[in-house]
Amino acid sequence: MDGPAPAPFQPGGRVEPPYFIDREAELDELSLAMAGLSAHYLVEGQRRVGKSSFLLNASNRARRENSRLAIIDIDCLQLGSVRDLADRIVQGTLAHYKDKHSVKGWLVLQATALEGAIREALGKIEKVTVKSVKRILTVFVDFREGRVDEMGLLREAFEFADRFASEAGFGTVVLLDEVQELTKFEGAIFGLFKSVGDRAKNLRFVFSGSAPRVLERVFFGKAGALYQMALRISLGPLPEGETKRFIDARLAAVALRAEAPAVDRWIALSGGIPFYVQRIGHAVYFQAMHERRAAVDTGLVERACEQVMLQMGGDFDARISAKFSATQRRILVVLSKRGPLRRVDLARALARKSTSISEDLGKLVEWMEVVRERRGVYRMADPLMAAWLSQSRFADQPVRPAGRRRRRPA
Ligand SMILES: Nc1ncnc2c1ncn2[C@@H]1O[C@H](COP(=O)(O)OP(=O)(O)OP(=O)(O)O)[C@@H](O)[C@H]1O
Ligand SMILES: [Mg+2]
Repeated sequence: MDGPAPAPFQPGGRVEPPYFIDREAELDELSLAMAGLSAHYLVEGQRRVGKSSFLLNASNRARRENSRLAIIDIDCLQLGSVRDLADRIVQGTLAHYKDKHSVKGWLVLQATALEGAIREALGKIEKVTVKSVKRILTVFVDFREGRVDEMGLLREAFEFADRFASEAGFGTVVLLDEVQELTKFEGAIFGLFKSVGDRAKNLRFVFSGSAPRVLERVFFGKAGALYQMALRISLGPLPEGETKRFIDARLAAVALRAEAPAVDRWIALSGGIPFYVQRIGHAVYFQAMHERRAAVDTGLVERACEQVMLQMGGDFDARISAKFSATQRRILVVLSKRGPLRRVDLARALARKSTSISEDLGKLVEWMEVVRERRGVYRMADPLMAAWLSQSRFADQPVRPAGRRRRRPA
């Protein structure tokens, strides 16, 4: 007997087709740029919009287009130090070469060196014939002995990746997901990317992250270290038509079908955020199985969403309690009940002056909790958290109706 049917939705992790949809134009652009080493890129978007999945799919496509491409995939959340990053770059470069060619003695030697037996390796460096490998081994020894600092080591690691790629006849792309995490290291790290990135011939960077003001400052502000260095790809919510087809096809794979208004409700509640489309799907599927239904109606979608909100409520509650000041919380509550709102109307509802909430509102935008739309109106970025918040214990505090103005008590 075959195993159980594969789950129709995958809410979590980096997904590939058929669980990954849309983003075609962006995939074409990034995969061609990676395959041809044509430019550095920044992929940005709000939380859970699908950045990491997008990077994975673009990498798969780039590898198909160029078999002589080494892609080093780094999650900056997992880096403990600048040295970790240098290690990953060197090991990633060599690992690719090891996959493509028969393992040579010096590769084993390299691995040994990086695992810590550098002194032992030192005696053998003379046997290493590849110039770039010899140099990076020496630099690791110098680092160990305090003659080179972490930044120096990282610079050499990037230069190694570039030079080794040219010696071995391939190109290297370094993916740095959650790049905003690098701000925990020295600010100089961004300057290093720029100086390496401007000169490298066989090395390109693809940065990705979701703290827009940090990214804005580092990449695109006039003072930004990476100003004019990276091209930008912004990922937004999934388009409605594609999402509808996706929902229908995934349900059909498990012999379910959905009524049109139910799908509309599903998409509206998800805000087109891919994670929520799939998270709601997961709940809809189990709800339908539980109720032994073949058709999904609006009521079932509502029940599934209630369940998702209940399950995520703990996370939402923890986030709202821990992360925000009292004013920020009140801004979120007002937006959850009344958004989208212009800043003056938001301030009025809080009985505050518009200028006095700018800083808190700015922080919420920076953290991508609030989105400023083109017409200058603000709304919560996360529609499910908004729906949850508007009914939560935080929502109990009274909110002044819009349109009445009162001076703040001194
Ligand atoms: N293109 C897509 N089509 C369908 N579903 C997707 C797509 N991209 C992402 N998803 C869904 O969203 C989930 C989160 O995706 P992913 O981890 O790639 O997002 P992210 O933007 O990197 O998130 P985070 O901000 O947490 O790093 C996936 O597990 C999947 O369920
Ligand atoms: Mg991610």
